[in-house]
Amino acid sequence: MILLSISIFWLSVCVDPISADPPITVEAHVGSTALLPCNLSKVFTQTSVIQWRADNEIVFERSFNGANVSKGYEGRVDVPEDELRKGNCSLVLKDVRITDHAFYKSFVLEHVEATNTGKATKINTVQLDVVQSVSAQVGSTAVLPCDWRHLSIQTPHVEWRAGRKTVFERLGKESSQGEGYEGRVDVPEELLLKGNCSLVLKNVRVTDETLYSSYMGVKNSKKLVQKVKLSASENEKQHNSFINCIKIPKQTAEVFKHMQETEENPSSDQHTLNGDEEK
Ligand SMILES: *[C@@H]1O[C@H](CO)[C@@H](O)[C@H](O)[C@H]1NC(C)=O
Ligand SMILES: *[C@@H]1O[C@H](CO)[C@@H](O)[C@H](O)[C@H]1NC(C)=O
Ligand SMILES: *[C@@H]1O[C@H](CO)[C@@H](O)[C@H](O)[C@H]1NC(C)=O
Ligand SMILES: *[C@@H]1O[C@H](CO)[C@@H](O)[C@H](O)[C@H]1NC(C)=O
Repeated sequence: MILLSISIFWLSVCVDPISADPPITVEAHVGSTALLPCNLSKVFTQTSVIQWRADNEIVFERSFNGANVSKGYEGRVDVPEDELRKGNCSLVLKDVRITDHAFYKSFVLEHVEATNTGKATKINTVQLDVVQSVSAQVGSTAVLPCDWRHLSIQTPHVEWRAGRKTVFERLGKESSQGEGYEGRVDVPEELLLKGNCSLVLKNVRVTDETLYSSYMGVKNSKKLVQKVKLSASENEKQHNSFINCIKIPKQTAEVFKHMQETEENPSSDQHTLNGDEEK
């Protein structure tokens, strides 16, 4: 009976966020420009304010009188006025940073009537997935970047995964290496204590090519910190590296993303981390 109610609870936890409000996922690479899509259902009037928020903090707002840009987004965000007049409220986010993912997983657009402030109507939610790309030659050492110096919570507990597989885990002095990565991976303890959670991967193999995610262990949960896409190329033959580049089909990335989402959603732990950060 207890078991049954537990499984029902988990089921509803898993299904709810999806059925309630399916977020649009936008994947962007570090340094690129991301377009967070949005359409206005109502005509933009003199009293309207368009707002983009990340975890309830305002990122950008625009009315017919002008625009406000929040700290950390100066010169990087815009909803062009001419587009807005056409009902296109998409947010252009330039120079995407890894922290745009870590802190601003959900972008919520609010449409506020100035005459009725406080009543914001949500238009849509966009999840921005920031992915960093690293390419390394087979046999060389790759560093998969990870940095949590900017996070308010910092623990000496890191886990790197490839899909569901653990590649490396360190908790203080204790560390373990995943199958196939024995003797090749490390997050040096002294660097981890300074907030550098980068994974050093030695003797890169073609089979290492995949999407990696780093997690911070906080109490009994793991919070996603960063995603890194590694591509491995063989140096002897030029055309081989080209093949390797086109060999990563988008579906593979999607599969990994879905695998991760299924894994991450039940605990929705990213929210907690983001929420904590703002306090
Ligand atoms: C917005 O509208 C355009 C065309 O009018 C459509 O292609 C796009 O999918 C819409 N985007 C959203 C987020 O609804
Ligand atoms: C920008 O901020 C100022 C001061 O808080 C406010 O008066 C103004 O209405 C804001 N502009 C928009 C477009 O929301
Ligand atoms: C909406 O505006 C953005 C730029 O702000 C533009 O890139 C995009 O193509 C526009 N979308 C439509 C459907 O016009
Ligand atoms: C983090 O550590 C890696 C080696 O583990 C190093 O290559 C990298 O430069 C360090 N990053 C920073 C920001 O110090």
